[in-house]
Amino acid sequence: MKKLNAVITGVGAYVPEYVLTNHELSTMVDTSDEWIMTRVGIKERRILKGEGKGSSDMGEKAVRQLLEKTNTKPEEVDLVICATVTPDHPFPATANIIADKVNIRNAQGFDVNAACSGFINALDLAKQYVENGTKKKVVVVGADKMSAITDYTDRTTCVLFGDASAAVMVEPTEEDFGIKDTILRSDGFGRHHLYMKAGGSAHPASHETIDAKLHYIYQDGQMVFKHAVSKMADTAVELMEKNNLKPEDIAWLVPHQANLRIISATGNRMGLPDEKVMVNIDRYGNTTAATIPLCLWELEKILKRGDNLVLASFGAGFTWGAIYVKWAYDTK
Ligand code: UT7
Repeated sequence: MKKLNAVITGVGAYVPEYVLTNHELSTMVDTSDEWIMTRVGIKERRILKGEGKGSSDMGEKAVRQLLEKTNTKPEEVDLVICATVTPDHPFPATANIIADKVNIRNAQGFDVNAACSGFINALDLAKQYVENGTKKKVVVVGADKMSAITDYTDRTTCVLFGDASAAVMVEPTEEDFGIKDTILRSDGFGRHHLYMKAGGSAHPASHETIDAKLHYIYQDGQMVFKHAVSKMADTAVELMEKNNLKPEDIAWLVPHQANLRIISATGNRMGLPDEKVMVNIDRYGNTTAATIPLCLWELEKILKRGDNLVLASFGAGFTWGAIYVKWAYDTK
């Protein structure tokens, strides 16, 4: 039997309607459009409104669109992996909730928590299942309602994040396309620099943790920035060298969207011109596990069969990595 490769066969996404602009944020905290644009590159982000709405409500819409676009019946799906740091509940997995909402029954399903690198870690898992022949249709969905864990009185974090979900279908092919190589790493020393201090088993929710605002994102921005710039770029360059990819061989860098300066530094280190670097942080901000598939969703209409893509990310943990994808289809 010929070797099976794991290939992305479609992309779906959902972004909430409500647009939170820099102007509106400047009425909530001491910030300005000028500061946010210069330091981070975000103009606006989307916010999921509505009582009781969670990441699964966005994931459901993204997966519904994905099934429709790829002509997939829910019963054909073998596995749903959801990457998220904002699950609807600590358990069950948001993957199970999304699957229930779109009527995927009896498929394997679980969540992956690798923060901003969640999607690339989930995609790597999908690759393993598909290449070893145990799964034929795997849905990988990144879904994060970051507004649920953002303190809108803290200007150092509230300008950065947004809500979104995006999903890809991963299937086997015998052709020489698909997810060619992955480099994924982590170093838990970074766990103190970007995390949620309470709400887990170490510090369960209590009146004290609520009063101390420990259920929000805590970030030492400069520390994270320093490591993000070096790790994301180093790993992307390592992936290029390992696969003998020159800058001219790469059609697109598809980076995690945390800060335009981190994205540009990575593109520069890889020797890529700006027009080969996918950027949509200006419109959506940092949507954690959704940024990379959301970029793919926007790029899909111009991607061509055979295009070489490098996906790269860095996030809490610390976790980081890069994935080499040979895109498999043209969109009509
Ligand atoms: O996706 C997960 C991984 N996360 C990341 O990759 C994020 C990495 N970090 C960053 O992107 C940047 O560190 C930030 C965007 C978070 C912050 O940018 P910075 O250039 O590192 O700013 P800073 O934290 O050094 O703050 C500079 C100044 C400070 O004022 P003083 O102390 O110099 O007077 C801050 O208080 O900017 C101030 N500041 C703000 N001013 C206006 C911080 N946030 C704001 C704000 N508006 N929103």
